[in-house]
Amino acid sequence: MPGDQKRKDLPDERAICSFREKLLDFYRRNGRHDLLWRKTTNPYYILVSEIMLQQTQVPRVMVKYPQFISAFPDVWSLADASLADVLGVWKGMGYNRRAIALREIAGLVVSRFSGVIPDNEVVLCGFPGIGKATAGSIVAFAFNRPTVFIETNIRRVYIHCFFGEQVPVSDSEIMPIVAKTLDVRQPREWYYALMDYGSVLGRRSPNPNRRSTKYNRQTAFEGSDRQIRGQVLGLLLRDGTMKENELIATIGESPERTRQILLALARDGFVTIESDSVRFHP
Ligand code: ADE
Repeated sequence: MPGDQKRKDLPDERAICSFREKLLDFYRRNGRHDLLWRKTTNPYYILVSEIMLQQTQVPRVMVKYPQFISAFPDVWSLADASLADVLGVWKGMGYNRRAIALREIAGLVVSRFSGVIPDNEVVLCGFPGIGKATAGSIVAFAFNRPTVFIETNIRRVYIHCFFGEQVPVSDSEIMPIVAKTLDVRQPREWYYALMDYGSVLGRRSPNPNRRSTKYNRQTAFEGSDRQIRGQVLGLLLRDGTMKENELIATIGESPERTRQILLALARDGFVTIESDSVRFHP
């Protein structure tokens, strides 16, 4: 396997074949074939799922995605919907900016592209809320195009399989290997396999992404109490009052940790905790 050597050179044909076989074999046996957004190639459905998956865990998206699709079954219905209706269906997902962006995207697709979602990454990156990873995912999953992109699960696979003990590893070192190993015959299956294998690696310790330059840059703030305080205040600023259990679910951290943060915010005079709800305190 290409796995254990320290190497920055591109893998040779044999290494590429064995890497592909290993990943595709894993995917056939253990892939998440039941994810709802993998049972479709409808570009609108895939757009919705990819925006949802940006910052929300798979189990929660499995619940919200079908509700959203049934409320807004196509770009026209989403473009025509009121922001209040869209946010109403989005409730519980958090990071509402994504719902606002999704509605804006639908409006742009209707007004500029006759309701047809573009199959071009560069164009997709011009839409609000869509970066390279989301654009790459849409192009691969909806259109089965041999695009080259990286996101957190994919990064984990390449660091684990191609960078031995190297620390740190940058995306600019990983990307040529992503391009060289891409299975151009079946990009859709290939990226599903990469994401699923990366997701399994994420449950292992140590997480290979700790060696990524990205990870090191983000850790000081990502997942910190300070970040969660900001998220809590953001939600309460918007809604004024929220049920405590809904707030905890939206934040997506453990209830104990979120409760500690709420207590600290209450001590500092930012919020008031009532029987089962939390209120912003201006
Ligand atoms: N399947 C398709 N897109 C995905 C994503 N972004 N995360 C996890 N599984 C996916």
